[in-house]
Amino acid sequence: MEMTLEHCVDLFNNKFGVPAVQLSVPGRANIIGEHTDYNQGFVLPFAIDKYIFFAASKSDEISSQIYSLNLDQSVSIDPDKRYEGFAKFMAGCLKVLGENIEGDQSVNVVFGGNLPIGAGISSSSALCCGFLEVLSRLFELNLSAEEILKLAISVERGAGVEGGIMDQFTIINAKENRAILLDCLDDSIKYVPFDLKEYSFVIFDTKVAHNLADTAYNDRVKTCRSALQRIQAVEKSVANFRAIKRNHLQLLEGKERERIEHVVNENERVLVAVDLLESGDVQSLGKLINQSHASLRDLYEVSCNELDFIAAFLQGKASVAGARMMGGGFGGSVIALMRKDNLESIAKELALKYKAAFNIQLRYFRVNPSDGIIERR
Ligand code: GLA
Repeated sequence: MEMTLEHCVDLFNNKFGVPAVQLSVPGRANIIGEHTDYNQGFVLPFAIDKYIFFAASKSDEISSQIYSLNLDQSVSIDPDKRYEGFAKFMAGCLKVLGENIEGDQSVNVVFGGNLPIGAGISSSSALCCGFLEVLSRLFELNLSAEEILKLAISVERGAGVEGGIMDQFTIINAKENRAILLDCLDDSIKYVPFDLKEYSFVIFDTKVAHNLADTAYNDRVKTCRSALQRIQAVEKSVANFRAIKRNHLQLLEGKERERIEHVVNENERVLVAVDLLESGDVQSLGKLINQSHASLRDLYEVSCNELDFIAAFLQGKASVAGARMMGGGFGGSVIALMRKDNLESIAKELALKYKAAFNIQLRYFRVNPSDGIIERR
């Protein structure tokens, strides 16, 4: 059974009374522009119609009571203690806002949702952005979108990953039926309306999260930074990642060269993709999506067997315009642009083959571009 906001509110009523705040917080998908955000590049994400729901009120107890409906687990949080799982992020949020919350006040929260966890669709960012928004409303802190963004990023970095800003930015600022062209050099944006007609974006969750994914992600961040410095040592005019052009690649070698080659090409693909999305040229957009996968697999080396298997199968189908790994990689999900009419039969065939190859039950679902954080009043 899929969790809804109603489930959270009903349980909150039973446990604590009427909630003062009710929020729906979406996850994010990314059409193209992967591993470009922390390299001052372009990304083209949208918020999806899968959510984490929150019901919450202030409390006079010493510690905050947080109940996860999906895990059927209750945690009492003291922001100065160390936690694992969801409590780690929520304690981080309480801690960064600690000084803004007067006295010894705490909160009661019930949360749950239909946003798969660990599928590379930003459940941890949704949790942090959502909980910070909950706290802002409960304690009348009037945090701006920009403040929530910065705080969420700092909480997540505190949990160990040197991530970029794409996920949190999308969850906070997204709009229905639009993708966001986000320029991570100066955080400027353009909303890109789109209508895929007989096509839809579909997410295929590998249900794997390979070991050391966080370490490998942080390694990529470091390699790109050192490549930039190497270029700058020779070309003083290269002020930032964006100023790196194809002719600078000759100043690099080995992995540094491959990683930056991916970033330069991927940025170009994003800008072309915006035009194709706007004009509804699904076939050409799909080809760019396929190229992005090959580049992430071969040059950036963040794919894995499960992602490659799914992407290759989908790319071989006439009714699939394109498919690629999405998010940080080493597991997580594939995003595909495919016709709606035979989506089910293709997905079922893939699920059988995936089960035979990896003994994992594939999960898949259509996603539609949705609004960012939504409050129910
Ligand atoms: C993760 C990070 C994002 C981004 C992607 C890769 O989702 O949180 O900031 O770097 O990986 O594009």
